[in-house]
Amino acid sequence: MTVTPLIIDTDPGVDDAFAIALATASPEVYLCAVTTVFGNVGVEQTTSNALRLLALCDREDVPVARGADRPLVYPHPFRATYVHGSDGLGGRREMLPALSREPDPADAVDLMAGVLRATEQPVTIAAIGPLTNIALLLATHPSLKPKIGRLVVMGGTLGGGNVTATAEFNVWSDPEAARRVLTEEDLPTVLVPMDLTMRCSVDKDWLAQLESAGPVGSTLVSLTPTYLDHYRRVLGREALVLHDAVALAEAVRPGILDCTPLPVDVECSLGPARGVVLADRRAISPDKPTTGRLVELAMDADLAELHRFLLDRLGR
Ligand code: BDR
Ligand code: CA
Repeated sequence: MTVTPLIIDTDPGVDDAFAIALATASPEVYLCAVTTVFGNVGVEQTTSNALRLLALCDREDVPVARGADRPLVYPHPFRATYVHGSDGLGGRREMLPALSREPDPADAVDLMAGVLRATEQPVTIAAIGPLTNIALLLATHPSLKPKIGRLVVMGGTLGGGNVTATAEFNVWSDPEAARRVLTEEDLPTVLVPMDLTMRCSVDKDWLAQLESAGPVGSTLVSLTPTYLDHYRRVLGREALVLHDAVALAEAVRPGILDCTPLPVDVECSLGPARGVVLADRRAISPDKPTTGRLVELAMDADLAELHRFLLDRLGR
């Protein structure tokens, strides 16, 4: 089996925690680096969360480098503490091993560039936070683009949003960066929007099975009470949404999500549609004007298979 090198760019985040654990439990990939970005909470906190999550997964060998503390162009104070708690981990970070090391002295872009430069094989990058670090990487190291085999992004929505009526959190948090990454670059990209991740929610029974499967699974479940409260209000039932773990499933097992190539653009106006991802779902024809570039949009999945896959891996 070919083992694909993987970088995760992340803002942990409860669902990011599940995503990182999934990567460390997946033999199809070798996790080479974790880079952090502001998002669910500030970058200092996302960085220490990433370090502690890797300790939980027994992967303290993976370098963690701190990245952007704010968006590229328009700073804003909005963080998702109402979803992920003030520490990003549902107020439960003490459930994780104590901090036992410092982040890498390199910053996020330098660490990613170093991994890309040093690795013979094409690298998969899973971007599960605002796209600021990835935009900076592509802008400052264009010669390394061919080393990126696949970029898998959790972000956007084709229907209603979560952070505004129309926009999804990761894209809305830095729309200029998202536009650079999603529409101006030409690397193979899979976009996993929240329409699909919402449909992939897991229920109490799934959580109970994970809790009893082993120590990593039970620690992950211990981070979820506040997050579950949020999704109980949003969904009207006992379920939670593991957005980033769904994207990671596609990063480690390409094809587990059903993707359709569609032209995608990002709205960067400062009005109410800021951060909207526009995916042109009309049949493509030369006589219809369109905008953006083709990305693989994850539109569907075999939900039962995906739930089994996540449980099997996270329960190891
Ligand atoms: C995305 O926003 C964050 O709150 C989650 O971690 C996920 O990456 C979902 O919109
Ligand atoms: Ca995230």
